[in-house]
Amino acid sequence: MCGIVGAIQRDAGVVQTLLEGLRLLEYRGYDSAGVAVLDAGAIAIRRKAGRLERLELALTDGALSAARAGIGHTRWATHGPPSDENAHPHTDAEGRVALVHNGIVENWAELRAELEASGVRFASDTDTEVLAHLVGREVARGSSLFDAVRASLARVRGYYAIAALSLEEQGARLVCARSGPPLAVAAGPDGVYLASDVLALIAHTRDVVFLEDGDVAELELGRAPRVTRIDGTPVERPARRVEWDPEAAGKGSFPHFMLKEIHEQPDVLARTAFDRLRLESGDVDFGVPGFSDAELRAIDRVQVVACGTALHAGWIARYLIEGLARVPVDVDYASEFRYREPVLSASTLALAISQSGETADTLAALRLARSLGARTTAICNVLGSTLVREAQATILTQAGPEIGVASTKAFVAQCVAAYLFAVRLGRARGVLSLQQGRELVSDLRLLRPQMESLLGERAVSEVRAIARQNQSQRGFLFLGRGINYPIALEGALKLKEISYVHAEGYPAGEMKHGPIALIDPEMSILVVASRGPLAEKVRSNLEQVRARGGHVIVIGSDEESIAKSDEHVRVPVCSEWLSPILNVIPLQLVAYHMADLKGLDIDKPRNLAKSVTVE
Ligand code: F6R
Repeated sequence: MCGIVGAIQRDAGVVQTLLEGLRLLEYRGYDSAGVAVLDAGAIAIRRKAGRLERLELALTDGALSAARAGIGHTRWATHGPPSDENAHPHTDAEGRVALVHNGIVENWAELRAELEASGVRFASDTDTEVLAHLVGREVARGSSLFDAVRASLARVRGYYAIAALSLEEQGARLVCARSGPPLAVAAGPDGVYLASDVLALIAHTRDVVFLEDGDVAELELGRAPRVTRIDGTPVERPARRVEWDPEAAGKGSFPHFMLKEIHEQPDVLARTAFDRLRLESGDVDFGVPGFSDAELRAIDRVQVVACGTALHAGWIARYLIEGLARVPVDVDYASEFRYREPVLSASTLALAISQSGETADTLAALRLARSLGARTTAICNVLGSTLVREAQATILTQAGPEIGVASTKAFVAQCVAAYLFAVRLGRARGVLSLQQGRELVSDLRLLRPQMESLLGERAVSEVRAIARQNQSQRGFLFLGRGINYPIALEGALKLKEISYVHAEGYPAGEMKHGPIALIDPEMSILVVASRGPLAEKVRSNLEQVRARGGHVIVIGSDEESIAKSDEHVRVPVCSEWLSPILNVIPLQLVAYHMADLKGLDIDKPRNLAKSVTVE
């Protein structure tokens, strides 16, 4: 969950390159940061607890401005609290090597005891320092950095992405390795680079090599990265072109990434869906293997695994797949699925949904499903991610880089992908007629202007007024039914993540079985109320809230519900299947504006990190 970067460049100024990379990776962790560079024949390290700005401040003296090679790190603490001492990079006792690490060394206590017994004194509480001493010891014995890293990793249990720098190599080479967390390397015209996320590479080059688990890479100016397995066996890892626009990694004119990403959603819909729609045949073409009629007809059950917001998209996928393709669907938290004893078969499709494609629990769930004989498919936003590489088939969402820690546009892209998949499955299985297919496909095309209208000035100011009016409430209950029940869950998750208020999502019909006891005037109830078969049911749930003095805010297209509300955001009418994609937008904006009015750090909420690569 940390971010690592490294670079060797032709010209001076590597500190600036590292800081720019870290800025783009800060979403991965932001409790401390540091860099190590080769400077005047020594390894110079600067590291600071707190946000990246504090490190930048410590580097304003320009003392390291001549350096051309270095590594950097932004941390999400696992071993040891955020402090200057625990911030990376870490070194061995003689300062021969510097090392940054993302992940966990599971046998660190054992290795630390062994090193201490041989006289090594530790300067931090981290598991990473163990690696620095191991590599330093090998280098002291005369190994190259490359061999020293390989020999050290052979002793390590756990998962890691690491990068190391050695005094002996005088900055001519960097070595990095991965087993678990992501790592990519690239050679551009002005330098060679490594990073946890391609976001930090695309400013230099679009041609990127994604390392596989167990790979070790050596970077040297003027040549393609050398990659081997830990045992030294050479492997070919061809560079892949990344189409992301470097501009997408900036905030543009928006004050926060989250707001920018909410506003990108109509384009995300278009990018994820429109090229794949086949109006004439009322079908969807993913343009990749794994979605043929024969393959889809062989499925008799779908098992969704995901975490957090992606899981909410998974719940929506359930309504879509059962409703449109008539295939039964189970949905599980990936973290639970991996520890129960699920029953799957060769005709089960395990569908893993993830923005990053690196979430540890989701990956473990996918691997378990595969080991039990299921076929695997991913809905994922990141080309080259572990999930995409391990799943047998992938629907790539085209949300572009999502940097705000609270997921918004990736969620919409996941819902769109689930809709496309459900239509394809329904058509492949003959459950949907040509006419039905055509209608479903055209409905999606109508959605974009409706999404845009919810992001127009009027709608946004309505939402801001709701946020202002409700910001001092004690708690929030989000209610929804049917395919909009997951939207209630998602609305509540967004609010608690970035506004730090208690919010719960509930199926509206379940409220009377307990949560109704919470209702009083200090509790705001957000009801997702779309026109459709369940509208009447939602209205009666809403009456139950009103009768107990709850403050009711309706988000949706059902006019009768709106008439009964204290406040509302009117959402355009669309097909029931697509209504979650519209309804979520005002809920994302309520959370955003509530956090903004409270002056909170919206893009980097406390205690969170964007990519949860630990269990
Ligand atoms: C919430 C959020 C998280 C992620 C979850 C899964 O806003 O972002 O709940 O959805 O950590 O992450 P991915 O989708 O990368 O697997």
